[in-house]
Formats: sequence, C-alpha cells, structure tokens
Amino acid sequence: MSISQLASSVNPSPTMKLNEEARVLKAKGEPVIHLGTGEPKNPAPNTALMAVAAKLEEGQLKYVPTGGLPSLKDAIIQYTEENYGRTPAQQNVIVSNGAKHSVYNVLLAVVDPGDEVIQIAPYWVSYPEMAKMVGGVSVFVTPESDTFQPTIEEIERAVTPKTKAIIVNSPNNPSGGVYSDDFIGEIVGLCEKRDIYLIMDDIYHKLAYGDALPAPGYRYTGKAIDDSMIIVINGVSKIYGMTGARIGWTVASREVVSAIGKLQGQTTSCASVLSQVAAEGALLGGQGIVEDLRVELKRNRDELVKGLQALSDLKINIPGGTFYCFPDFSAYNKDSNALAGFLLEKALVVTIPGVDFGMEGHLRISYSGSLDDVKQGAARIVWALDPDSPAEIKAGDRKLVRDWL
Ligand SMILES: Cc1ncc(COP(=O)(O)O)c(C=O)c1O
Repeated sequence: MSISQLASSVNPSPTMKLNEEARVLKAKGEPVIHLGTGEPKNPAPNTALMAVAAKLEEGQLKYVPTGGLPSLKDAIIQYTEENYGRTPAQQNVIVSNGAKHSVYNVLLAVVDPGDEVIQIAPYWVSYPEMAKMVGGVSVFVTPESDTFQPTIEEIERAVTPKTKAIIVNSPNNPSGGVYSDDFIGEIVGLCEKRDIYLIMDDIYHKLAYGDALPAPGYRYTGKAIDDSMIIVINGVSKIYGMTGARIGWTVASREVVSAIGKLQGQTTSCASVLSQVAAEGALLGGQGIVEDLRVELKRNRDELVKGLQALSDLKINIPGGTFYCFPDFSAYNKDSNALAGFLLEKALVVTIPGVDFGMEGHLRISYSGSLDDVKQGAARIVWALDPDSPAEIKAGDRKLVRDWL
C-alpha cells in the first residue's frame, strides 16, 4: 500500500494541531479562549433558513445544473452589479462548494504544470497547497513595507514568462490589511499587459471598515468580463456566517467558467441544492445582517487592538477588514509555533502561528468571537508575555496566570 506523492506532499491545515490540543484542554474543563477561528458566530440569516425549509417541504432533492441553480446565479449577478458595478451573464458565473473550492477550480482550469502562481505574503495558507496540487509553482512576494502593502514594482520583479496567475486577497487573511485602490489599479494594468490571470479572492470584500468598499478590480479595466483577465471569487461563508453551507462562486470570462464547468461536472456534479437555495435566500434577503456583523467586528477589533497595545514591544498594523489581526511578536519570540504553543499552555488562548502564512514571528488572532472572549483573550496574552503589564484578568481566570503574578 502506498499513498500518492501528491497527497504525501500536501501540508495539513496548521490549525489542526492547536485545535486538537485546545479540544483536549476544553474537555478537561479548562477555560480555553479560542482566538483561532475563521468564522463569525452569528446564525445564518432567516431568509436562508426559510428557503431551505421550503425546499425540504417540496421534497425534491435532485441534481441541478453543474454551474449552479439559475436563480442563484441571478442573485449572484445582482450582487455583482450592486457591489462591483458590473453585470455578468449567467455564463460568466459558476457556483462551487465553498470559495476554497472555487479557488482550487480556477487554479485547476488555468495552471499548467510548471506555471508560476504569484502570492503576496502574508497569504492564506491554502493557496500554496492548492497551487502545488495542480502542478503549479508558488512564487512569493513579501512586501518590504511593514504595513503589508505591496508595491507594483515588487510584484513586477516576481513576474517571469512562466507567470500564469497572481492571487490577490484583500481584505487579507491573515493580516486584515486592505490593499490600496491604487495598487489594485496597477495590478489590473500589469495583468492585462502581461496576459496574467488576476485571481481576486474577495471573500472578505464586504467586511472592510473604511467608509467605502475596497475598489473592485473591474473599476480599472475598460474590458468586458469576457475579455478580462480578472477572476473574482466570493461566497456566503464569511459575510453571512454560513461556513458550513459550502457555497462559493466565481465570476470570470465564459472561457474560464466553461473550463471550470467541465472539471466540476466530472468531479462534484454540482453543489448541494439545499445549500444553493440557502445562499440564494441569504443574498436576496435583507442585508442589514452584514452591516451589523461589520459593526460588531469593528468594535471587537478596536478592543483587541486596545488590549494588545499594552505590550510595548508588539508591532500591530490595525486591520482594515476581515476579523483577523496579525501582530508581529518577534520581540517576544521569533518562533511563532513555539509562541502559539506557549500561549495555549500558559494562558489557555488559541492563536495561529504566522509561519504558515509566510511570515514568521507573527500570530494570527481572530476577533470574530464574543467581545468578552476578545477582551479576556487579549488580557491573557498580555499577562503571559509581560507580567508587569496592567492587563485586567477576570477574577475567575486569575488562577490561570498565577505563574506570572
Ligand atoms: C482568503 C480566504 N479565501 C477563501 C476561504 C474559504 O471560504 P469557504 O469557506 O467559502 O470555502 C477562506 C476561509 O477561511 C479565506 O480565508
């Protein structure tokens, strides 16, 4: 018996080990605070649940078109019109099993073995693994600026005749950074000039804290979607708290969408019809829920940043979106795996090591949980790393940090 070379070469998710340790501690009754999660805690919108209930009532759970229910695609077209100012055709849209699946399908459809895929550090952990799975070669660009903002010159220096695609994720997991509108304009220009696909993973697009949404790539091209190198990926996981529904979608040229359709038709057939009607219900229902989430996350962000700022040697870029913060802890410990392990053991706080996102010395801290967890989590981290700091630990948690008192 042997496992394929490909499967053996793929790294498991970095969250798995710490999650398991946290689960064991929790099972023992330890008050673990989880600042590692990648999902908001709110329930799915009522309109999504009602749509599923109606579908169940109907009793018909059959295959649907590979590319997605036409009515869901209509809702996606409307979403794209409202948030991106572009009106794709049905043939420009394909629905997959989560945005992660959408990214994988896009890479599978456009990357040949040996093609290079540029990723900007810090990057989402799954991109290099997915690039590897389709035979691509990851090329990483680490911005010189300590604000996570790349320059177009840095990207240009990484482009070679083998560059097939550049992945841009803004607001960014793990940094929470939002790339400047100017940079988005420049990268659209570069991709059009050099015939490179620009994969825009916009899963956090509506979870940005500025007055306006981050600029869509389409703003900077006169080309129709069918002639454009821009590929936009989105989904319901983050904005509606529907991570388990597993619905994501891609908007791209008919050529790219039809290639994905062939691959998807031979692998998954279509996304679950129940999840598709749920996504349609969410998209067509009131959008106040997204704004409420954004406001709540912004408040949590402010509390987290305020709490962590008690650590005088910590370098924090205030996140402009998502629900992640990615401070530089290297003044305390340069080894992010060791540091995350230490914080779990001593302060019972789960964080995610930055090394897997391409930036050692950092930790990804999620603030999508309750305000209380965010405040207490920050206080415990501060106390664990600097016992003299003025962090306020809840009375019930004092026992946890007695080593530092
Ligand atoms: C940048 C980024 N893209 C895509 C995804 C995947 O989203 P989905 O749950 O829809 O597959 C995530 C989830 O963490 C993400 O952070």
